[in-house]
Amino acid sequence: MPKILVSRKISDLAEEKLKKEFDVTLNLKDQPIPESELIKIINKYDGMISTGFDKISENFFNNLNGKLKIIAQVGVGYDNIFIKAAEQKKIKVTNTPNVLNEAVAETTILLILAASRRVGEAYNLVRSDNWKNQKPDLTEFMIGNSVTGKTLGIIGMGRIGRIAAKSAKAFGMKIIYYNRNKLSDDLEDGAKYYSDLNSMLPECDFVSIHTPATPDTKHILNASTISLLNKNAVVINTSRGSTIDDDALIDALENKKIYAAGLDVFNNEPNLDNRYTKLDNCFVLPHIGSATHETRLAMSMMAVDNIYCFFNNKPLISEVI
Ligand code: DGY
Repeated sequence: MPKILVSRKISDLAEEKLKKEFDVTLNLKDQPIPESELIKIINKYDGMISTGFDKISENFFNNLNGKLKIIAQVGVGYDNIFIKAAEQKKIKVTNTPNVLNEAVAETTILLILAASRRVGEAYNLVRSDNWKNQKPDLTEFMIGNSVTGKTLGIIGMGRIGRIAAKSAKAFGMKIIYYNRNKLSDDLEDGAKYYSDLNSMLPECDFVSIHTPATPDTKHILNASTISLLNKNAVVINTSRGSTIDDDALIDALENKKIYAAGLDVFNNEPNLDNRYTKLDNCFVLPHIGSATHETRLAMSMMAVDNIYCFFNNKPLISEVI
């Protein structure tokens, strides 16, 4: 029976399913396994279920003895895994696309609303019991910007970007997008395509990033691209922190070169640049894009199914390499 390591707690039903077919080591207490420890134990296992919290570096792959055959990541992103080394060692890597599209799109809309309607400030005011000390004022008190009818620019019009666009249309938002390739009319669904990011940015009231973390998308929003946004623009990020140059975005927020940001992902999570947390015009979340019961169950199940398919010589559901 193949031996499977599950690096973190995954959904109960998925753990139960896995146990029926495999010799499984679960992490029921959900204790993070440091990379040095993972390297020590991994050679006992034929497969591993990983999460974005695990660092699976070149060093990890260099220390393998040939037993490990597959890493099934619970997550659509896999930038925590040094894919080149996995490829060289002929280790399969799978991820969990699609099942989290709606949850991440919901988080995108949440950030759009929260950042433009000053929800962080308003919430803190009530929670800190300071509301009663405010002078309610018709034109100043917690006045934000409307979302309805505004233009949303999407960077990366993949599956998640398209669902976010569809939801944004419920607010009468006009959708424009920048993507490597123009989509078919069907997938575009009325959105206007820009082949050049610099041409799209001045048109955006909101710009939302939906690209994977790759060398090409690193700092796609930087001092130069952010300078093309108008001063009412709001930056939204539910993809990966690496797509944004923190110094550039923080400078734009501090100096009111743009209106606000709504961010769920950061460089160096969970140790984000703490300047973000001090800005009234930045609404921050702790990477909860896919964090719903339904979605985490579906993600856990998909990782288990990938393991099942691999060891039963069936086509993998979602193969990265
Ligand atoms: C993913 O699946 O990559 C998400 O960011 C994890 O929540």
